[in-house]
Amino acid sequence: MKNILTAPFVEEMKKVTANMYRLGWDERNGGNISYMLDTNEVAEYLDLNNVIRTIDTGFNAEKLIGKIFIVTGSGKYFKNVIDDPEANLGIIRIAEDGTTAELLWGYNKGGRPTSELPAHLMSHMARLSVDPENRVVMHTHPTHTLAMNYVHELDEKKFTHTLWEMCTECIVVFPDGVGVLPWMLCGTNEIGEATAKKMEEFRLVVWGMHGIYGAGKDMDETFGLIETVEKAAQIYMLTAHLPRINTIKDSEMVELAEFFGVNYRKDFLNL
Ligand code: 13P
Ligand code: ZN
Repeated sequence: MKNILTAPFVEEMKKVTANMYRLGWDERNGGNISYMLDTNEVAEYLDLNNVIRTIDTGFNAEKLIGKIFIVTGSGKYFKNVIDDPEANLGIIRIAEDGTTAELLWGYNKGGRPTSELPAHLMSHMARLSVDPENRVVMHTHPTHTLAMNYVHELDEKKFTHTLWEMCTECIVVFPDGVGVLPWMLCGTNEIGEATAKKMEEFRLVVWGMHGIYGAGKDMDETFGLIETVEKAAQIYMLTAHLPRINTIKDSEMVELAEFFGVNYRKDFLNL
C-alpha cells in the first residue's frame, strides 16, 4: 500500500489551502473544500474495508452513496493543512444509508467534516446532474468579493453584469454568471439546499455577506473561477467610488463571448 501522504490528491489539498490562506481569503477556520476522488486511486493508499468511525451527516446524500471525498475538517485552519494534513483533512465515504459518512482516513486529532457539508454534498449532487465531470466544491471568504457584497445590490443579474464589466476575460471565464443568495444562516441544510438549487444553473454562488462557492471538474478550474471573480471584485472596489470614464460595453462582451465560443447568459446583458 502506498503512503497516503504522497497521494496527489492530498498534495493538491495542501497546495490549494496554503495558497488560499496566503491570499487572505481563509482567516482562522474560514473556508472549506470537498473533492470527489476516484475509488480505485484511493484503494492504492487505503484499505477501503477499514472504517475508522462513522459520522452522521444529518441529511440524505442518496445520489452519492459509495462515493469518496477528501474534505477539510470543521473548525480546522487552512493555514495548518500543509503541516498536518492528517489532522485537518479527512477522507469519507457516503455509506449505504446515504446519511452516514464513513471515515477512512484523517481527522486524527478528533473532529468531523466541515459544518458546510450539506452545501458541499448537495452542490456535488446538483453539479453532477448537469455536469458528470464535476469533482470539486470550494467555499471561501475572498476579501474584495465580500466587500462588494456590502456596497453592490445582491441581484444576480446586476452582480454578474458588474463583474463582467471589470475584466475583459470575465464573461469568457464565467459566461454562466454568478448566482447570489441573500444572507442566510450558514452550516444548515437550508443553506445547502438553496446553494444546490443555484448550482443547477451556476458554477459560482455568492453567499450574501459571507463568501462564495465555486464548483468545477478539478482544483484549477474551481480555484480559477473564484480567483477571477475576486479579481473583478477588487477592480470594482478600487474604482466604485471614482467617476467612471470608461467601461466595457455590452456589445463588446457579446463580441468576446462569440469570439471565444462560450454560451453566456444573454439575459444578464442589457442589449
Ligand atoms: P468550517 O470550519 O466548519 O469548515 O466552517 C468554516 C466556514 O467558512 C463556515 O462557512
Ligand atoms: Zn464560510
